[in-house]
Amino acid sequence: MTNLRIPGPTPLPPQVLASLSKQVISHRGRGFEKIYQEIVTNLQYFYQTKNPIYLLTASGTAGLETAVVNFFSPGDSVIFFTCGEFGNRWAEIARRYGLNVNQIKFPEGTSVKKEIVQEILKKTKKLRAVFITHNETGTGVLNDLFAISPLVKSHPNKPLLLVDSVSALGGVNLPMDKLKIDVLVSASQKAWMSSPGISMIAVSKDARERQKNSKIPKYYFDLALYEKFAEKNQTPATPAVSVLFSLQAALALMKEEGREKVFKKHLELRDYFRAEIRKMGLKLVVADIEASPTVTSIWPPTGVDEALWRKLLREKHDVVIAGGMGGLKGKIVRVAHMGYFSKKDLDLVILALKKSLLEIKKI
Ligand SMILES: Cc1ncc(COP(=O)(O)O)c(C=O)c1O
Repeated sequence: MTNLRIPGPTPLPPQVLASLSKQVISHRGRGFEKIYQEIVTNLQYFYQTKNPIYLLTASGTAGLETAVVNFFSPGDSVIFFTCGEFGNRWAEIARRYGLNVNQIKFPEGTSVKKEIVQEILKKTKKLRAVFITHNETGTGVLNDLFAISPLVKSHPNKPLLLVDSVSALGGVNLPMDKLKIDVLVSASQKAWMSSPGISMIAVSKDARERQKNSKIPKYYFDLALYEKFAEKNQTPATPAVSVLFSLQAALALMKEEGREKVFKKHLELRDYFRAEIRKMGLKLVVADIEASPTVTSIWPPTGVDEALWRKLLREKHDVVIAGGMGGLKGKIVRVAHMGYFSKKDLDLVILALKKSLLEIKKI
């Protein structure tokens, strides 16, 4: 069986696979409403929030766009602290909607540094919001929201804090209410071990207040509509019912395990994998202190072409890993460890990495 180790879509547990073979149901019936309610309640447990969470039938990028179009107007001054391609993408969405974007870029492979955040915030006089990618999937870096959130929240303009945790939430501890995050976006195909197709977005009371004054035109992603339909545990348009079945099944498994255990597994297996990579003599892209619990980036050994390496892994060893993005395209490989995976899956990756490197030497 293929060992799928790209950072989404991730493999599905048997119970989730089984849920996908169920007959579809009416999205306006009582059966659906019960499922919707269960999904939102279980998501709130993992988001650690009492805020409403809306389910968009769309991928994570749509969740990021939804976060831009609902709470702002053209010309609003916002800061993006970015350290890779997904941060770049979100900043680009905001620019296209006419926001006044100040993008502070940190080098790829490093995290957003709190000292710089503090310095920038101090000299920013007009500020409506701060945007940050929790887990920069393009490089495998985790940003420390525990350190950054209090800095944002102490700014005199009371900016909103918007966070993309598409590739970490569900597997990593990010307590929305405790950290006073206003908008928190994730997507079903990552640590949630469900099919691709649903983006989840949680919205604070302050953000809902801002929503009333937003002048950006929108329809499908207008959260006012989602809010209205959520009262009936429904969505405004036809949702991806089967994907929601998968999310329901996955969340039930995750809830049964308990969030602390799920978070611990991701941290422990990250550390295990990194240690094994080092033992092989390979170099990691990211320092331990800011390493992502869900995706690990590795420099190929000198002289090894990353695309050739990945091709060999895929075609001969049935292990599928990702390449680099942005400035790291063609330079690194990335291995995901999120959602439905075990130490055994990682051991198989490690074995395949070792074997394939020996094979490359012989080519
Ligand atoms: C951090 C992050 N943000 C946004 C996205 C975009 O999500 P999607 O591909 O579901 O649109 C991804 C996808 O990998 C991601 O990792």
